[in-house]
Amino acid sequence: MGKDVIVACDFASKKEVFDFLDKFTDVKPFVKIGMELFYAEGPEIVREIKARGHKIFLDLKLHDIPNTVKKAMSVLSRLDVDMTNLHASGTIAMMEAAIEGLTREDGTRPILIAVTQLTSTSQERMEADLLIEKPLDEVVMHYAHNAKVAGLDGVVCSPLEAGKVHEKCGDGFVTVTPGVRFADGDIGDQVRVTTPAKAKEIGSDYIVVGRPITAAADPVAAYKRCVAEFCG
Ligand code: C5P
Repeated sequence: MGKDVIVACDFASKKEVFDFLDKFTDVKPFVKIGMELFYAEGPEIVREIKARGHKIFLDLKLHDIPNTVKKAMSVLSRLDVDMTNLHASGTIAMMEAAIEGLTREDGTRPILIAVTQLTSTSQERMEADLLIEKPLDEVVMHYAHNAKVAGLDGVVCSPLEAGKVHEKCGDGFVTVTPGVRFADGDIGDQVRVTTPAKAKEIGSDYIVVGRPITAAADPVAAYKRCVAEFCG
């Protein structure tokens, strides 16, 4: 898997996302489309961004009974996305069904990665609300292992966990890591952050970067700086 920078296009409308993407004339970043934009604009937004030549990570985090996830994944595969995801907590059977649904007739399929425990879930909430009493990092690694057993390609995790995930699941198991900030940038609401260069050193395969690029005075320059630090 090649290293790449994925730009989180966390915009509320088609107009905002196209105003942003129009700034990129000589490069076509890999873009992440999340629930907000997808639910606002529907699947057409995926087709339109794809038609402009961008690779797409569709971040919808599916979680349902295996048969429903299989059918939904089959629809996403026909949308020709390059990467998509689901919740590992949906069980190994759900993840296996997802792969079945995602696989096209010619045997190809988008990269499929799992969310382990959301970073918004604390040890305390996991114990009190979910009745999971193991240490959080053990749960994250166990879910990553389940994803690997189910045949998925990787997980979303903190760049700080990428090394450990590779140790447990192998170097070829993809780590997609948000929480990236420039050394001289604002961290905003992210808590555990790392720079693109550090993420590269730890072994992230893809970094997901939103506001350091989307809110920059010069988004194209910020994107290119990320690529230079992470892929260079
Ligand atoms: O703007 P920022 O760089 O913080 O955006 C990071 C992106 O990655 C957002 O789309 C956010 O929802 C997503 N994300 C995250 N932390 C996770 C999972 C996803 O920041 N654990």
